[in-house]
Amino acid sequence: MSERPNSAAALDIASHLHPYTNARQHESVGPTVLTEGKGVYVYDEDGKEYIEGLAGLWCTALGFGEERLIRAATDQMRKLPYYHGFAHKVAQPTIELAAKLLEIAPVPMSKAFFANSGSEANDTVVKLVWYYNNALGRPEKKKIISRIKAYHGVTVATASLTGLPNNHRDFDLPIKNILHTSCPHYYRYGEPGENEEDFATRCAAELEQMILDEGPETVAAFIGEPLMGAGGVIVPPRTYWDRIQEVLRKYDVLLVADEVICGFGRTGNLFGSQTFDIKPDIMVMAKALSSAYLPISAVLISDPIYQAIADNSAKIGLFGHGYTYTGHPVPAAVALEAIKMYEERDIVARVRQLSPRLQDGLRRFADNPVVGEVRGVGLIAGVELVADRASKAPFEPAGRVGGYFAERAQAHGLIIRNLMDVIAVCPPLVISEEEIDSLLERFGKALEDTASWVEHEGLASVA
Ligand SMILES: Cc1ncc(COP(=O)(O)O)c(C=O)c1O
Repeated sequence: MSERPNSAAALDIASHLHPYTNARQHESVGPTVLTEGKGVYVYDEDGKEYIEGLAGLWCTALGFGEERLIRAATDQMRKLPYYHGFAHKVAQPTIELAAKLLEIAPVPMSKAFFANSGSEANDTVVKLVWYYNNALGRPEKKKIISRIKAYHGVTVATASLTGLPNNHRDFDLPIKNILHTSCPHYYRYGEPGENEEDFATRCAAELEQMILDEGPETVAAFIGEPLMGAGGVIVPPRTYWDRIQEVLRKYDVLLVADEVICGFGRTGNLFGSQTFDIKPDIMVMAKALSSAYLPISAVLISDPIYQAIADNSAKIGLFGHGYTYTGHPVPAAVALEAIKMYEERDIVARVRQLSPRLQDGLRRFADNPVVGEVRGVGLIAGVELVADRASKAPFEPAGRVGGYFAERAQAHGLIIRNLMDVIAVCPPLVISEEEIDSLLERFGKALEDTASWVEHEGLASVA
């Protein structure tokens, strides 16, 4: 691709295996090299400006170039650049962050455990759930139920929780004891004549049947994103979480809320659990926790879980889990500052105020011939592209049209992500009204290009 053999692009192709990328295609397409960021904008090596319409990977909530976060990191680096939490040691910011997370948690939580990514946090959850049930003398209660289209990470255990084919295929996953129940996407899975509430009730009935088929004594936990992100920005029906929680309570199954995307204001409340009235036993946070300036994630556990773990660690002599960087003081200091900024700027009120501008703006594209559904809450949305609006027929092969849209958006100065053929929008929460308008304008241009291309290539299915 590049005529410049010593360019960053050429070096990248020669030396770097990219995550979530078609490696062979990358050899010819090459990278977009980003060099700077300010607010909601990032700039590539040629100086081209883009609106970061997905806040990176749903994470840079406070935008780019935020001096307060930079200062929090550098101050802590000067003071104590590293310490760990093993064998009763700890650094000051880590203590403060654990206490702060318990203070802002929407349900009473007992302790916070830290890791470096959403995957590691969810991996920790799997181990905690197993350890907890062993501690309670229930060694057979180990199965964890996730959902089709869920996203919980890519480690061996969390890729297993993830309910997307490309995360299992050729990796020999999922591992045993992980199950996937129905995805709460009414547009895709609702049956003719079924309203949203009936559909939610059916999802819960299917979960209950799975628990009964497996044997409730073998089912330990259910994990869910309050609103599903990487599976296609799927907003569950209003009654979905109530029905699901009734089933979980009936069979003594723990509820894990994966707040990795929803946490810290994204859905118009501090946590997605508040937006959807979820009362979790375990909460998982990452991404916006530090506005993604440094890697850090957290697992919050309820008191009954903590008590069982504490007793068991006393019995064994050790809670044998933790990473070199668990509770690293530098990302902890950044996370504390980020949370302070969310509070000072009343980020929740801001999201609520800006939400209609983005959501209504995107819904204006709902009549476009390639748009099947526009959905979202707060400052997160998905636009599903379809080959036929009446039958909801998807494009074949999946992801080709979405990929074209993403390319056109980038050409128009907007970085978003296509989740196959769903276009995800999730800008930094600091975006202004004018910047939302500009995002929508660039989105509209990409959509026009895509609709013309679909027509030209004859990709729309003829009903
Ligand atoms: C809901 C959710 N959980 C977990 C993860 C995994 O986080 P990470 O990529 O930091 O491992 C993600 C990543 O997008 C996510 O969206």
